[in-house]
Amino acid sequence: MKVLVTGCAGFVGYHVARRLLADGDAVVGLDNLGPYYDPALKRARVAALRAAGPLEFHVGDLAEFELLRALAADVDVVVHLAAQPGVRHALVDPFSYERSNLLGMLDVLEVVRRRTPPPRLVWASSSSVYGGNVRTPFAETDRVDDPVSLYAATKRAGELMVHSYRHLFGLQALGLRFFTVYGPWGRPDMAYWRFAEALFDDRPLELYGDTAASRDMTYIDDVVDGVVAAVRRPVPDELLNLGNAEPIPLERLVETVERAVGRTGRRLSGPAQPGDVATTFADLERSKAALGYEPRVRLEEGIARFVEWYRWWRSVR
Ligand SMILES: NC(=O)c1ccc[n+]([C@@H]2O[C@H](COP(=O)([O-])OP(=O)(O)OC[C@H]3O[C@@H](n4cnc5c(N)ncnc54)[C@H](O)[C@@H]3O)[C@@H](O)[C@H]2O)c1
Repeated sequence: MKVLVTGCAGFVGYHVARRLLADGDAVVGLDNLGPYYDPALKRARVAALRAAGPLEFHVGDLAEFELLRALAADVDVVVHLAAQPGVRHALVDPFSYERSNLLGMLDVLEVVRRRTPPPRLVWASSSSVYGGNVRTPFAETDRVDDPVSLYAATKRAGELMVHSYRHLFGLQALGLRFFTVYGPWGRPDMAYWRFAEALFDDRPLELYGDTAASRDMTYIDDVVDGVVAAVRRPVPDELLNLGNAEPIPLERLVETVERAVGRTGRRLSGPAQPGDVATTFADLERSKAALGYEPRVRLEEGIARFVEWYRWWRSVR
């Protein structure tokens, strides 16, 4: 198969592209190598991908419509992962969410629907769309009209845009709601990375909000299994959860990172951050049935693999 991966230099994009290359698929990658976090990490991911297989990689923005159109001209599937992630950054630069998650989503949809026949679209939504919902686990059929961050609102808006394009143009488009993905080559803004970094740097660990607050943490290889299953197998579903179905309290995450690093750190507690939610917890019934999705990697194992990688990354960066 030939697959266009947007956000190919990002954490999830890197791993998806890597798996596709290993499976012998042709991969075209697009990424603007934006400055939300260290672009050197993005460039290192691209270099590692190039070493893994014949990647066709382009530095460019979703807004470069003709470029996007040319890259999608002969692919079987578009895996759209490029986005402005993170809940907190929206308080600093809200317009980056507008550009990448709203306009960027529309660019992708227009490119897809203008092609004859349209390629299939598999794209990343987020567990954050469940917002302030209290009934767990979160199921795809739950109402999702209480986003508590701009990030969540833009991901939900993306879901609604895709819904309308499926209706108008008969697109085959599947949104995958990722639940806190973690692992090697991960994102420096995420809690598990920040805790490891603080431990290595001998700095206190900054914990925000209630340490009983929990996240359904999903190991990257499990998420890649789900994304690649969706690339291989057209499904009628519009939205599916990709999570781990085991919410991890913040305190347990900290202890797990400490064990993997082999040090404990002083805790500094701060108030809950605007946009944070109390828990996330995926119902996986539908993704199991549609994609055969079955997460396998337990937190201790996944964090140990991340820390091993992070040790190496610190030695080479
Ligand atoms: N990692 C998670 O826990 C998680 C959870 C839920 C949803 N998601 C979603 O999964 C996708 C991948 O996330 P990630 O964790 O790999 O983030 P990431 O920031 O590592 O990857 C996103 C990539 O997209 C690129 N990008 C952003 N805007 C772009 C634009 N306008 N044009 C071209 N490239 C652009 C960035 O440079 C980056 O490399 C995103 O859509 C994100 O919202 C991630």
